[in-house]
Amino acid sequence: MKRMRTYLPSRKVIAVLAAALLATGTAACGNSDTGDNAGKGDDGKITLGFSQVGAESGWRTANTTSIKEAASAAGIELKFDDAQQKQENQIKAIRNFIQQKVDVIAFSPVVESGWDTVLKEAKDAKIPVILTDRAVDSADKSLYKTFLGSDFVKEGRLAGEWLVEQKKAASGPVNIVELQGTTGSAPANDRKKGFAEAIAANPNLKIIASQSGDFTRAGGKQVMEQFLKANPKIDVLFAHNDDMGLGALEAITAAGKVPGKDITIITVDAVKDGMQALADGKFNFIAECSPLLGPQLMELAKKVHNGEEVPARIETEETTFTQEQAKEALPNRKY
Ligand code: AHR
Repeated sequence: MKRMRTYLPSRKVIAVLAAALLATGTAACGNSDTGDNAGKGDDGKITLGFSQVGAESGWRTANTTSIKEAASAAGIELKFDDAQQKQENQIKAIRNFIQQKVDVIAFSPVVESGWDTVLKEAKDAKIPVILTDRAVDSADKSLYKTFLGSDFVKEGRLAGEWLVEQKKAASGPVNIVELQGTTGSAPANDRKKGFAEAIAANPNLKIIASQSGDFTRAGGKQVMEQFLKANPKIDVLFAHNDDMGLGALEAITAAGKVPGKDITIITVDAVKDGMQALADGKFNFIAECSPLLGPQLMELAKKVHNGEEVPARIETEETTFTQEQAKEALPNRKY
């Protein structure tokens, strides 16, 4: 009978294998579809490096799909990096894109501050940057070409104005709890601001507790449980996105209350699950925030790559939904 020989690779072979692994490129950070050595796209295609926030919500998943589909439809080579909700991962990804000499960089900044250094590096490397979905608070506007996304202050204001109208006959205090998005992010800061400004019209409307649920269902559920324990009378929940509102539904039901009736629920986004909750009477109102930014982003990438002028700010068109409107819109909702 033949004996099998165990093969032990020599040092030389190990070194060659390690070099080959490095050459194929491992992700700089987070989950990445990019390779470190991948430079410009083949066949003269525009190469777009895109750093995504993460996969924290239904909105984000729809946004990622929109960007990937639009890139492939536009013939743009996309280098996609998922930063898993960490700014340091986004900074690493942007540096990686600079090293790879991509043609254009786009990103959705997880938080507003702390971007100047890396944006300056991109500018020095002559790579145009597009902000999508979320803004940065950099004073130097020359660090990026344009910002494509929603007006988050307006979304908060629309949510607040609807509540003011609903509660105009209230003779006593209306207790509101607020589930904020990711601390330091543009949508959390701006939606909070817009909502507070709008409800100031009626002094009966009071925010009695406000905390971050990080835009996730788990976060929404956990923080709502705390709110319910600490506050015997909650009349309204304003959640900065559908996912946190959906998580909160579980906490509200477990506390023996009826969502949409005992507690009025207002959210932002209008993704399918949120619209279903609204149509089912569990939510009461949603201010829309569209994630379908892909096609516009690809157009902008082509323009900035060609050196064409683009507007400094491009605002997404959005609407609001009541329960009746959600029932009508739901069958055609794409995300
Ligand atoms: O930046 C957009 C926000 O981020 C969405 O409203 C929220 O669902 C997402 O996580």
